[in-house]
Amino acid sequence: METEISTQSHQSRLQDLEKRNELAMLSGGAARLAKHKQGGRLTARERLDILLDPGSFVEMDRFVTHRCENFDMASSKIPGDGVVTGYGRVNGKLIYVYSQDFTVFGGSMSRTQANKICKVMDLAQKNGAPIVGLNDSGGARIQEGVESLGGYADIFVRNTMSSGVIPQITGIMGPCAGGAVYSPSITDFVFMVKNSSYMFVTGPDVIKTVTHEDVTKEALGGAETHSQKSGVAHFACEDDKHTLLLIRELLSFLPSNNLDDSPSLPTLDRPDRICDLLNNFIPESPKKPYDMLGLINEVVDEHYFLEVHKHYAANIIVGFARMNGRSVGIVANQPQVLAGCLNIEASRKAARFIRFCDCFNIPIVSFVDVPGFLPGTDQEWNGIITHGAKLLYAYAEATVPKVTLVTRKAYGGAYIVMGSKLLRSDVNLAYPSAEIAVMGAEGAVNIIFREQIKKAKDPVAEKFRLTSEYEAKFSNPYLSAELGYTDEVIEPALTRKRIIDALEMLKNKKETLPAKKHGNIPL
Ligand code: HXC
Repeated sequence: METEISTQSHQSRLQDLEKRNELAMLSGGAARLAKHKQGGRLTARERLDILLDPGSFVEMDRFVTHRCENFDMASSKIPGDGVVTGYGRVNGKLIYVYSQDFTVFGGSMSRTQANKICKVMDLAQKNGAPIVGLNDSGGARIQEGVESLGGYADIFVRNTMSSGVIPQITGIMGPCAGGAVYSPSITDFVFMVKNSSYMFVTGPDVIKTVTHEDVTKEALGGAETHSQKSGVAHFACEDDKHTLLLIRELLSFLPSNNLDDSPSLPTLDRPDRICDLLNNFIPESPKKPYDMLGLINEVVDEHYFLEVHKHYAANIIVGFARMNGRSVGIVANQPQVLAGCLNIEASRKAARFIRFCDCFNIPIVSFVDVPGFLPGTDQEWNGIITHGAKLLYAYAEATVPKVTLVTRKAYGGAYIVMGSKLLRSDVNLAYPSAEIAVMGAEGAVNIIFREQIKKAKDPVAEKFRLTSEYEAKFSNPYLSAELGYTDEVIEPALTRKRIIDALEMLKNKKETLPAKKHGNIPL
């Protein structure tokens, strides 16, 4: 008899659990879910289904509710309190996740929601696995006041402590306003969804009152604005699904934490594949632009390059690829945009990328065709000196394997900055078309032979003669090779092989920085 009673009791307990789970799955209710899904947006749980390997998600804190008693809140408690948290797998590798549920109090941040997020952040850091946050929230839970702000601060501190320890990725899937924007911007990569997400510190209404500007939410802080103008977002995606699949893709290039090696995947692409296309790739005229992306795609495994920050500062290219299976970070000047000059935006973009790679043991391969820093009052007054120094600092500080190839121009300070041997690069290669010099021949002749040209019987002919002489002497890679600043001048068709040779040779590289609390990068 006793056994029967106990069995029934187990059954009713299970039924009770099932009911509670069903209630939690209802989120903010059918009406709010229907409204949320208008326009193709996915729910917090549907997003996790796409982000994570099928069946791998384990939810935590499903029954957590808020403790707020203000404004009659005690009578409206929804299990989970507006965020779904837990862990799962991406391509078989552990990650931690949180996904805000806009249908529950607008996904707003309560004290308990913050506690849930902090719990998975702590687990992610202790267990050395990436964390992905999917943000969709009206910001601080207004009914809770300063308690909610405290929750944000706890998250900011964890973002800061985890920086450089585990990869942190944010998907902005809806609103993200006020101080809430600062957690995503501390994370390593920010993805935004076009037309349904926005980020700003102060919204259009406040802006209208204070500065009298009229601006829509999309124009102020939509995905295109942040991926093109401000650089706050690294990826602007078409919709929720595209965003989540791209996050999976990015994760495939990253190690789980700062103690892991750069990940490696099997590849059928031969390490010694000859890149015939490259022997005639660089235009003969140094003034003619070409698409550096074509060169990168030719060299990397299976011609696959995941470009990061594609629409921001397009004069420099950054992104991930694999070389003989191993993830590498690529940094390259783009001669097609602003002639590949370095400016403020390009320096900031590349510096942050290099530092990310260095944190996570991802070797850096640089392709250089840089005529110099962009001139102009705009650049000088906005601090190109400080911002350019960031890039220099990032290259000099990085201890991961660094391989640099000069394809064409490498002039002056920009030559030094772009992963030169002088900034502790390990292997420096150059094409025969490389011009490693203080400046271009024409500019140089104009300065050092100004008087001589003026006084010449035929100034045009004299300038031509002097320019040719300067080119022959300085516009090549051999002076640099004589000094050992260039290790090898290579036939372009051998680019892939030589870069892989260098990376294999550097596989066990160990280099340390002097003991210090941390450096003081020119922020
Ligand atoms: C509590 C909130 C909320 C919030 C939205 N809701 N934001 N509840 N706190 N911050 C609730 C709404 O009351 C509503 O509940 C539901 O979420 C959906 O909101 P709607 O307004 O109906 O949705 P929509 O029209 O899509 O507008 C979305 C919105 C708007 C633009 C985000 O809700 C909004 O402006 N919210 C306030 C934003 C804000 O000022 N937040 C504080 C920012 S300051 P019902 O029950 O009707 O479904 C901040 C400081 C952070 O965040 C500092 C960190 C250091």
